[in-house]
Amino acid sequence: MSTVVKPDIRVLPSPNFPAAAAEQLTAYISEAVATRGRCRLALAGGSTPYPVYQHLARPPLTGRIDWNAVHLFWSDERCMPKRDETSNYHMAKEALIDLINIPPANIHRIETGLPPTQAAMRYAELLGDEPLDVALLGMGDDGHTASLFPAMLDLGQSGPRVIATEGPAAPRQRVTLTLRALNESRMIIFLMTGASKAGRLREVQQQIMHGESGPDTLPSAQVQPASGRLIWLVDKEAAANLDLTSTQGDNKNA
Ligand code: 6PG
Repeated sequence: MSTVVKPDIRVLPSPNFPAAAAEQLTAYISEAVATRGRCRLALAGGSTPYPVYQHLARPPLTGRIDWNAVHLFWSDERCMPKRDETSNYHMAKEALIDLINIPPANIHRIETGLPPTQAAMRYAELLGDEPLDVALLGMGDDGHTASLFPAMLDLGQSGPRVIATEGPAAPRQRVTLTLRALNESRMIIFLMTGASKAGRLREVQQQIMHGESGPDTLPSAQVQPASGRLIWLVDKEAAANLDLTSTQGDNKNA
């Protein structure tokens, strides 16, 4: 059995989860820039990250990040126009990009104006084969992450780093990083809040701890960095059912 990468679980105070999570992200982004001269950062979609991105865009945190050295990617995208409310690019543009001085050349959007498979190929070219420094992810109530869904037979442990997929709910057409791209990352950070995630999160933790890898293994449990770090930033509600004695980190309550 390959070694299990246990998540470093950080339970952040619920009222100001976004600020506390943004504070931790700032440290990791700045560490990558200081170490390697730049940070290749993949943003998560969905709703949880929105207020976190807003804190990254405001003082004091924004002043601690050299945005000229940050390259923005996306962990996944819905195949919608970039100005559509459901677009992950639109969400990040509203909460972060429009509020910071980042060179337009540093923004590597998934070109949803192309057909999904072409958009995936184009994005794979933009991404290249260098590992991401920080990959942000969320988890759906069904245990999906990025646009890797439980019903999918192949989540791309090998092969392309970017694929077109179809989700169970609208907007169904997606483009997503595969497990290969995610698990190559130097650091993977999940942002998960709310009681609705507590049951599934326990299931994901159990699957990881048991080293499960069969067809019933949830996508979020298959995110296991080959050599990087795995961090779960959660609030108390999402963490309610977790076994915190087995977390890798020593600061369970950061
Ligand atoms: C998307 C996201 C998706 C999201 C989860 C959690 O495009 O929808 O990439 O994987 O992270 O569904 O979403 P919430 O943060 O809204 O719970």
